[in-house]
Amino acid sequence: MTTSFNLFSVGHILFGRGEFRQLGTLAAKGGRTALLVTNSGEAGDGGLVDQASQRLREAGVGVALHRQRGEPTIHDIETALATARKSGCQTVVAMGGGSALDAGKAVAGLMTNGGGPLDYLEVVGRGEKLRSPAAYWIAVPITAGTGAEVTRNAVLGVPERGFKASLRSELLLPRVALIDPELAVGVPAAVTARSGMDALCQLIEAYTSRGAQPITDALAWEGIGRAARALPRAVADGQDCDAREDMALAALLSGIALSNAGLGAVHGFAAPAGANYPIPHGTVCARLLPPVVAANAAVLAEEAADHPLLEKYRALGRQLTGRTDLQKNEAIEAGVRFLEDLVDQLDIPRLSDFGLQPEGFAALIALARRSSSMRYNPVTLPDTVLEEILRQAC
Ligand SMILES: [Fe+2]
Repeated sequence: MTTSFNLFSVGHILFGRGEFRQLGTLAAKGGRTALLVTNSGEAGDGGLVDQASQRLREAGVGVALHRQRGEPTIHDIETALATARKSGCQTVVAMGGGSALDAGKAVAGLMTNGGGPLDYLEVVGRGEKLRSPAAYWIAVPITAGTGAEVTRNAVLGVPERGFKASLRSELLLPRVALIDPELAVGVPAAVTARSGMDALCQLIEAYTSRGAQPITDALAWEGIGRAARALPRAVADGQDCDAREDMALAALLSGIALSNAGLGAVHGFAAPAGANYPIPHGTVCARLLPPVVAANAAVLAEEAADHPLLEKYRALGRQLTGRTDLQKNEAIEAGVRFLEDLVDQLDIPRLSDFGLQPEGFAALIALARRSSSMRYNPVTLPDTVLEEILRQAC
């Protein structure tokens, strides 16, 4: 078997407690006016928006603000782009959760490529290729989850079509990913829980993806161990900076891994579920992860009892539980049980709480099959299995 792969990532990743102080200096390298795209509080509340604005102004960088509410739609991007153009912004600082980072990423890409989001959007747009590197932009993640600070796609909703799709190009990568784990200490427990489950899910799906390769495997492996240990602690005590640091690192690793390896069935469902029901992305991921891991391992074992990918599921079970003595099916079952217990322990709501009912399963499955993540799932899951996965998450 031969090995060949591409690996794209951000050229400058600055990680560490207190490194947020460098924001102004870094942004000044991109231009004199920045569009600050954020979903982390409001201007004037003395929180992170004010702190970021102050750091930018101290470095001589003017600030225009775009407050991102909820997950970004193409209309949000058009609004933010108009603000950037009107204010003469040369650079973008996106600070917050994945929604703010994806919005900033899309705006930075369109600032230099012209046109609007639908010109470039996959699946539901015209799917044209971006040709120019995005405007100089800095990603400052706050919630440890999506890893959007190092991914090359921005997920945008198209409300009229009930669908989410990506702008995707390595030209969208930020110039700097600035990750300061201390910024997460004020993130509420429920957001910490579902964001962290998204990161863990991305690590696991990248590790077992059809597109997995040695570097993404190494990163995912490290991230899975850290997230499994740190997530319950970060949720129980938001001030636990060691746990926050491990989760920030796990999210970063998940972003590099997924961006280069692809994901799987959980994320195949996540886009259409999030577009059709008011379910946060991390909640979908958390509830679908245990049944998808169990189903993938079971279908692989049906295909061949010695399927080479099964060893990865056994290794996953050992890494999640920290029990290196577990063998064969015992290791896989322990991994699934660990994930089920974690989701319950973190009080993640069920998908039926958001209105998903069995009558909606067929439409969701049809949409999921069109999603780009589904083709990276390690095995093709039949509709009956996908229905059973949804039933277990409801
Ligand atoms: Fe995700």
